[in-house]
Amino acid sequence: MNVLGIETSCDETSVAIISDNELKTNLISSQDFHKDFGGVVPELSSRAHLQILMPLIKNALSKSNISLDKIDLITATAGPGLIGALLVGLTFAKSLAYSLKKPFIPVNHIEGHIFSGFLMTEKPEFPYLCLVVSGGHTLLLIVKSDTDIQKLGTTIDDAAGEAFDKVSKLIGLGYPGGPKIQSIAESYQSDLINFPIAQCKKEFDFSFSGLKTAVLRHIQKNYGSSEQIPAGDLPMIAASFQASVVKALVNNVRKAIERFHVSSISLVGGVAANKLLGNELELLAHKFNKKLVIPSNEFCGDNAAMIAYRGLKLFNSGLKYNLDYNAYPGLSDNTFIKPFLQ
Ligand code: KG4
Ligand code: ZN
Repeated sequence: MNVLGIETSCDETSVAIISDNELKTNLISSQDFHKDFGGVVPELSSRAHLQILMPLIKNALSKSNISLDKIDLITATAGPGLIGALLVGLTFAKSLAYSLKKPFIPVNHIEGHIFSGFLMTEKPEFPYLCLVVSGGHTLLLIVKSDTDIQKLGTTIDDAAGEAFDKVSKLIGLGYPGGPKIQSIAESYQSDLINFPIAQCKKEFDFSFSGLKTAVLRHIQKNYGSSEQIPAGDLPMIAASFQASVVKALVNNVRKAIERFHVSSISLVGGVAANKLLGNELELLAHKFNKKLVIPSNEFCGDNAAMIAYRGLKLFNSGLKYNLDYNAYPGLSDNTFIKPFLQ
Protein backbone atom coordinates (compact mmCIF):
# COMPACT_ATOMS: atom_id res chain seq x y z
CA MET A 1 0.00 0.00 0.00
CA ASN A 2 1.60 3.30 -1.13
CA VAL A 3 0.23 6.50 0.39
CA LEU A 4 0.91 10.02 -0.90
CA GLY A 5 0.50 12.83 1.65
CA ILE A 6 0.30 16.52 0.80
CA GLU A 7 0.49 19.41 3.28
CA THR A 8 0.03 23.07 2.23
CA SER A 9 -1.87 24.67 5.13
CA CYS A 10 0.53 27.57 5.78
CA ASP A 11 4.10 28.35 4.72
CA GLU A 12 5.51 24.85 4.28
CA THR A 13 4.92 22.80 1.16
CA SER A 14 5.41 19.18 2.14
CA VAL A 15 5.03 15.83 0.39
CA ALA A 16 5.43 12.43 2.02
CA ILE A 17 5.20 8.83 0.90
CA ILE A 18 4.37 5.94 3.20
CA SER A 19 4.93 2.53 1.67
CA ASP A 20 3.74 -0.63 3.46
CA ASN A 21 3.38 1.31 6.71
CA GLU A 22 6.92 2.64 6.49
CA LEU A 23 7.70 6.31 5.93
CA LYS A 24 9.86 6.48 2.80
CA THR A 25 10.11 10.22 2.20
CA ASN A 26 9.06 13.43 3.93
CA LEU A 27 10.11 16.45 1.89
CA ILE A 28 9.53 19.92 3.36
CA SER A 29 10.05 23.14 1.45
CA SER A 30 9.79 26.23 3.70
CA GLN A 31 8.80 29.59 2.27
CA ASP A 32 11.56 31.66 3.85
CA PHE A 33 10.68 34.84 1.96
CA HIS A 34 7.84 35.64 4.42
CA LYS A 35 10.47 36.85 6.91
CA ASP A 36 10.86 40.02 4.79
CA PHE A 37 7.20 40.84 5.59
CA GLY A 38 7.33 39.96 9.30
CA GLY A 39 4.75 37.16 8.91
CA VAL A 40 3.05 34.88 6.41
CA VAL A 41 1.47 36.71 3.44
CA PRO A 42 -1.43 34.42 2.39
CA GLU A 43 -1.47 35.26 -1.33
CA LEU A 44 2.29 34.78 -1.67
CA SER A 45 2.03 31.51 0.23
CA SER A 46 -0.59 30.12 -2.22
CA ARG A 47 1.50 31.12 -5.23
CA ALA A 48 4.62 29.51 -3.81
CA HIS A 49 2.72 26.25 -3.07
CA LEU A 50 1.53 26.25 -6.69
CA GLN A 51 5.08 26.56 -7.96
CA ILE A 52 6.74 24.03 -5.69
CA LEU A 53 4.12 21.29 -5.25
CA MET A 54 4.55 19.48 -8.59
CA PRO A 55 8.37 19.33 -8.51
CA LEU A 56 8.23 18.27 -4.85
CA ILE A 57 5.86 15.38 -5.66
CA LYS A 58 8.10 14.25 -8.53
CA ASN A 59 11.10 14.44 -6.22
CA ALA A 60 9.36 12.46 -3.47
CA LEU A 61 8.30 9.73 -5.92
CA SER A 62 11.78 9.40 -7.35
CA LYS A 63 13.41 9.40 -3.87
CA SER A 64 11.01 6.64 -2.80
CA ASN A 65 11.53 4.75 -6.04
CA ILE A 66 7.78 4.62 -6.63
CA SER A 67 6.00 5.63 -9.84
CA LEU A 68 2.80 7.68 -9.74
CA ASP A 69 0.66 4.77 -10.99
CA LYS A 70 1.76 2.72 -7.94
CA ILE A 71 0.18 5.20 -5.50
CA ASP A 72 -2.87 3.56 -3.85
CA LEU A 73 -4.16 6.37 -1.62
CA ILE A 74 -3.97 10.16 -1.81
CA THR A 75 -4.26 12.27 1.34
CA ALA A 76 -4.05 16.02 1.83
CA THR A 77 -4.64 18.61 4.55
CA ALA A 78 -8.14 20.07 4.22
CA GLY A 79 -7.93 22.53 7.15
CA PRO A 80 -7.50 24.44 9.35
CA GLY A 81 -5.12 26.89 7.70
CA LEU A 82 -4.92 29.62 5.07
CA ILE A 83 -7.75 28.91 2.65
CA GLY A 84 -5.84 29.73 -0.55
CA ALA A 85 -2.85 27.66 0.55
CA LEU A 86 -5.06 24.73 1.56
CA LEU A 87 -6.89 24.83 -1.78
CA VAL A 88 -3.65 24.35 -3.70
CA GLY A 89 -2.79 21.05 -2.00
CA LEU A 90 -6.34 19.78 -1.59
CA THR A 91 -7.38 20.52 -5.18
CA PHE A 92 -4.21 18.93 -6.48
CA ALA A 93 -4.83 15.82 -4.36
CA LYS A 94 -8.45 15.53 -5.49
CA SER A 95 -7.51 15.97 -9.16
CA LEU A 96 -4.81 13.33 -8.83
CA ALA A 97 -7.22 10.93 -7.13
CA TYR A 98 -9.76 11.54 -9.91
CA SER A 99 -7.31 10.98 -12.74
CA LEU A 100 -5.65 7.94 -11.14
CA LYS A 101 -9.02 6.58 -9.95
CA LYS A 102 -7.62 6.16 -6.45
CA PRO A 103 -9.24 6.90 -3.05
CA PHE A 104 -8.78 10.34 -1.52
CA ILE A 105 -8.77 11.13 2.22
CA PRO A 106 -8.87 14.74 3.52
CA VAL A 107 -7.00 15.18 6.81
CA ASN A 108 -7.49 17.68 9.62
CA HIS A 109 -4.12 19.38 10.19
CA ILE A 110 -4.45 19.41 14.00
CA GLU A 111 -5.33 15.72 14.00
CA GLY A 112 -2.15 15.25 11.98
CA HIS A 113 -0.14 16.97 14.75
CA ILE A 114 -1.97 15.11 17.55
CA PHE A 115 -0.91 11.71 16.16
CA SER A 116 2.54 12.80 14.93
CA GLY A 117 4.20 11.05 17.90
CA PHE A 118 3.40 7.76 16.15
CA LEU A 119 5.97 8.63 13.48
CA MET A 120 8.66 8.08 16.12
CA THR A 121 10.18 4.74 17.10
CA GLU A 122 9.04 5.27 20.72
CA LYS A 123 5.30 5.86 20.34
CA PRO A 124 2.78 7.37 22.76
CA GLU A 125 0.53 4.94 24.64
CA PHE A 126 -3.22 5.52 25.03
CA PRO A 127 -4.53 7.33 26.94
CA TYR A 128 -2.00 10.11 26.48
CA LEU A 129 -1.95 13.75 27.43
CA CYS A 130 -1.29 15.78 24.29
CA LEU A 131 -0.09 19.38 24.31
CA VAL A 132 -0.58 20.85 20.83
CA VAL A 133 1.42 24.05 20.49
CA SER A 134 1.63 25.60 17.03
CA GLY A 135 1.43 28.98 15.34
CA GLY A 136 -2.35 28.87 15.23
CA HIS A 137 -3.42 26.58 18.09
CA THR A 138 -2.76 25.72 21.72
CA LEU A 139 -4.69 22.72 22.99
CA LEU A 140 -4.40 20.40 25.98
CA LEU A 141 -6.08 17.08 25.21
CA ILE A 142 -6.46 13.56 26.47
CA VAL A 143 -6.16 11.22 23.51
CA LYS A 144 -7.92 8.00 24.49
CA SER A 145 -7.83 6.23 21.13
CA ASP A 146 -7.58 6.98 17.40
CA THR A 147 -11.08 8.40 17.48
CA ASP A 148 -11.69 9.52 21.06
CA ILE A 149 -10.19 12.80 22.19
CA GLN A 150 -11.20 14.86 25.21
CA LYS A 151 -10.38 18.55 25.21
CA LEU A 152 -9.18 19.90 28.56
CA GLY A 153 -8.17 23.40 27.58
CA THR A 154 -7.27 25.83 24.84
CA THR A 155 -5.98 29.37 24.51
CA ILE A 156 -8.49 32.13 25.05
CA ASP A 157 -6.45 34.55 22.91
CA ASP A 158 -3.07 34.07 21.18
CA ALA A 159 -1.61 30.64 20.39
CA ALA A 160 1.77 29.86 21.99
CA GLY A 161 3.61 30.03 18.63
CA GLU A 162 1.79 33.23 17.77
CA ALA A 163 3.01 34.77 21.05
CA PHE A 164 6.61 33.82 20.14
CA ASP A 165 6.16 35.36 16.69
CA LYS A 166 4.59 38.59 17.99
CA VAL A 167 7.17 39.16 20.74
CA SER A 168 10.00 38.36 18.34
CA LYS A 169 8.67 40.99 15.95
CA LEU A 170 8.27 43.42 18.86
CA ILE A 171 11.91 43.13 19.89
CA GLY A 172 13.13 43.23 16.29
CA LEU A 173 14.18 39.59 15.89
CA GLY A 174 11.79 38.85 13.03
CA TYR A 175 9.87 35.83 11.78
CA PRO A 176 9.50 32.96 12.63
CA GLY A 177 9.84 34.05 16.23
CA GLY A 178 10.15 30.71 18.04
CA PRO A 179 13.56 29.62 16.74
CA LYS A 180 14.92 33.19 16.92
CA ILE A 181 13.83 33.74 20.52
CA GLN A 182 15.12 30.31 21.55
CA SER A 183 18.47 30.90 19.92
CA ILE A 184 19.10 34.35 21.47
CA ALA A 185 17.79 33.20 24.88
CA GLU A 186 20.27 30.34 24.95
CA SER A 187 23.19 32.63 25.74
CA TYR A 188 21.46 34.11 28.82
CA GLN A 189 22.09 32.46 32.19
CA SER A 190 21.31 35.27 34.66
CA ASP A 191 18.23 36.61 36.50
CA LEU A 192 14.95 36.69 34.59
CA ILE A 193 12.39 39.50 34.37
CA ASN A 194 9.28 38.37 36.21
CA PHE A 195 6.67 38.51 33.42
CA PRO A 196 3.16 37.47 34.57
CA ILE A 197 1.51 34.11 33.93
CA ALA A 198 -2.20 34.44 33.26
CA GLN A 199 -4.76 32.65 35.42
CA CYS A 200 -7.76 31.70 33.30
CA LYS A 201 -11.32 31.10 34.49
CA LYS A 202 -11.18 27.53 33.18
CA GLU A 203 -8.24 25.88 34.90
CA PHE A 204 -6.76 24.15 31.83
CA ASP A 205 -7.06 27.16 29.49
CA PHE A 206 -4.13 29.34 28.43
CA SER A 207 -3.74 33.06 27.74
CA PHE A 208 -0.70 34.72 26.21
CA SER A 209 -1.85 38.19 25.14
CA GLY A 210 -1.25 39.70 28.61
CA LEU A 211 2.31 38.38 28.54
CA LYS A 212 2.90 40.04 25.18
CA THR A 213 1.56 43.33 26.61
CA ALA A 214 3.80 42.93 29.68
CA VAL A 215 6.85 42.62 27.40
CA LEU A 216 5.74 45.75 25.53
CA ARG A 217 5.26 47.69 28.80
CA HIS A 218 8.69 46.57 30.03
CA ILE A 219 10.26 47.88 26.82
CA GLN A 220 8.39 51.20 26.94
CA LYS A 221 9.23 51.74 30.61
CA ASN A 222 12.91 50.83 30.39
CA TYR A 223 13.94 51.85 26.88
CA GLY A 224 11.17 54.09 25.45
CA SER A 225 10.78 51.97 22.31
CA SER A 226 11.96 48.64 20.92
CA GLU A 227 14.46 50.38 18.59
CA GLN A 228 16.27 51.62 21.69
CA ILE A 229 16.78 48.24 23.38
CA PRO A 230 20.56 47.72 23.69
CA ALA A 231 21.55 44.53 21.83
CA GLY A 232 23.01 43.23 25.11
CA ASP A 233 19.55 43.26 26.78
CA LEU A 234 17.76 41.24 24.08
CA PRO A 235 18.81 37.81 25.43
CA MET A 236 17.41 38.72 28.88
CA ILE A 237 14.03 39.80 27.44
CA ALA A 238 13.84 36.78 25.12
CA ALA A 239 14.81 34.31 27.88
CA SER A 240 12.33 35.83 30.36
CA PHE A 241 9.49 35.73 27.84
CA GLN A 242 10.32 32.15 26.81
CA ALA A 243 10.48 31.05 30.47
CA SER A 244 7.00 32.50 31.12
CA VAL A 245 5.42 30.77 28.11
CA VAL A 246 7.03 27.47 29.10
CA LYS A 247 5.92 27.86 32.73
CA ALA A 248 2.30 28.52 31.67
CA LEU A 249 2.28 25.44 29.42
CA VAL A 250 4.04 23.14 31.90
CA ASN A 251 1.81 24.26 34.84
CA ASN A 252 -1.31 23.06 33.03
CA VAL A 253 0.34 19.80 31.98
CA ARG A 254 1.32 19.17 35.62
CA LYS A 255 -2.24 19.83 36.85
CA ALA A 256 -3.63 17.48 34.19
CA ILE A 257 -1.24 14.65 35.11
CA GLU A 258 -2.23 15.02 38.74
CA ARG A 259 -5.94 14.95 37.88
CA PHE A 260 -6.31 12.39 35.09
CA HIS A 261 -4.98 8.93 34.40
CA VAL A 262 -2.64 8.98 31.40
CA SER A 263 0.08 6.57 30.30
CA SER A 264 2.18 9.00 28.30
CA ILE A 265 2.60 12.64 27.42
CA SER A 266 3.09 13.89 23.87
CA LEU A 267 4.24 17.37 22.92
CA VAL A 268 3.42 18.25 19.31
CA GLY A 269 3.26 21.17 16.85
CA GLY A 270 5.87 23.73 15.80
CA VAL A 271 6.56 25.00 19.36
CA ALA A 272 7.37 21.40 20.41
CA ALA A 273 10.79 22.10 18.86
CA ASN A 274 11.46 24.44 21.80
CA LYS A 275 14.30 22.98 23.87
CA LEU A 276 13.36 24.58 27.20
CA LEU A 277 9.78 23.32 26.88
CA GLY A 278 11.04 19.84 25.99
CA ASN A 279 13.47 19.81 28.92
CA GLU A 280 10.86 20.98 31.44
CA LEU A 281 8.36 18.35 30.25
CA GLU A 282 11.11 15.72 30.43
CA LEU A 283 11.62 16.57 34.12
CA LEU A 284 7.88 16.45 34.73
CA ALA A 285 7.46 13.13 32.91
CA HIS A 286 10.34 11.68 34.90
CA LYS A 287 8.83 12.89 38.19
CA PHE A 288 5.46 11.30 37.43
CA ASN A 289 6.96 8.23 35.77
CA LYS A 290 5.28 8.83 32.41
CA LYS A 291 6.63 8.22 28.96
CA LEU A 292 7.26 11.47 27.04
CA VAL A 293 7.10 11.51 23.24
CA ILE A 294 8.24 14.59 21.35
CA PRO A 295 8.51 14.15 17.59
CA SER A 296 11.87 15.05 16.06
CA ASN A 297 12.05 18.57 14.58
CA GLU A 298 11.13 17.26 11.11
CA PHE A 299 7.77 16.07 12.49
CA CYS A 300 7.12 18.92 15.01
CA GLY A 301 6.59 21.62 12.41
CA ASP A 302 4.22 21.27 9.48
CA ASN A 303 4.95 18.12 7.50
CA ALA A 304 3.15 15.75 5.15
CA ALA A 305 4.30 12.59 6.96
CA MET A 306 1.77 13.22 9.75
CA ILE A 307 -0.95 13.85 7.13
CA ALA A 308 -0.17 10.62 5.25
CA TYR A 309 -0.06 8.69 8.56
CA ARG A 310 -3.41 10.06 9.74
CA GLY A 311 -4.97 9.65 6.27
CA LEU A 312 -3.92 6.01 6.16
CA LYS A 313 -5.44 5.40 9.63
CA LEU A 314 -8.76 6.93 8.55
CA PHE A 315 -8.72 4.92 5.32
CA ASN A 316 -8.00 1.67 7.18
CA SER A 317 -10.91 2.40 9.52
CA GLY A 318 -13.19 2.27 6.48
CA LEU A 319 -13.79 5.97 5.90
CA LYS A 320 -14.60 7.08 2.37
CA TYR A 321 -14.74 10.63 1.06
CA ASN A 322 -16.11 12.18 -2.11
CA LEU A 323 -14.13 14.51 -4.32
CA ASP A 324 -16.53 17.38 -3.52
CA TYR A 325 -14.98 17.62 -0.03
CA ASN A 326 -13.91 21.25 0.54
CA ALA A 327 -11.08 23.04 2.31
CA TYR A 328 -11.96 24.83 5.59
CA PRO A 329 -10.00 27.62 7.34
CA GLY A 330 -11.02 27.11 11.01
CA LEU A 331 -10.60 24.21 13.42
CA SER A 332 -14.28 24.02 14.25
CA ASP A 333 -15.47 24.11 10.64
CA ASN A 334 -14.96 20.43 10.08
CA THR A 335 -13.10 17.61 11.70
CA PHE A 336 -13.30 13.87 11.95
CA ILE A 337 -13.06 13.95 15.72
CA LYS A 338 -15.83 16.17 17.01
CA PRO A 339 -15.38 15.84 20.79
CA PHE A 340 -12.12 17.73 21.05
CA LEU A 341 -13.84 20.87 19.85
CA GLN A 342 -16.43 20.91 22.63
O1 KG4 B 1 3.00 23.70 13.61
P1 KG4 B 1 3.67 24.82 12.92
O2 KG4 B 1 4.87 24.51 12.04
O3 KG4 B 1 2.66 25.61 12.03
C1 KG4 B 1 1.33 25.80 12.40
O4 KG4 B 1 0.51 24.88 12.18
O5 KG4 B 1 1.09 26.88 13.00
O6 KG4 B 1 4.10 25.89 14.03
C2 KG4 B 1 4.74 27.08 13.70
C3 KG4 B 1 5.02 27.85 14.99
C4 KG4 B 1 5.53 29.26 14.74
O7 KG4 B 1 4.77 30.16 15.52
C5 KG4 B 1 6.98 29.20 15.23
O8 KG4 B 1 7.45 30.44 15.76
C6 KG4 B 1 6.89 28.14 16.31
O9 KG4 B 1 6.02 27.17 15.77
N1 KG4 B 1 8.19 27.53 16.61
C7 KG4 B 1 8.81 27.60 17.81
C8 KG4 B 1 10.06 26.95 17.67
N2 KG4 B 1 10.16 26.48 16.38
C9 KG4 B 1 9.00 26.84 15.75
N3 KG4 B 1 8.42 28.17 18.97
C10 KG4 B 1 9.27 28.10 20.02
N4 KG4 B 1 10.50 27.51 19.96
C11 KG4 B 1 10.93 26.93 18.80
N5 KG4 B 1 12.13 26.34 18.76
ZN1 ZN C 1 0.88 22.96 12.16
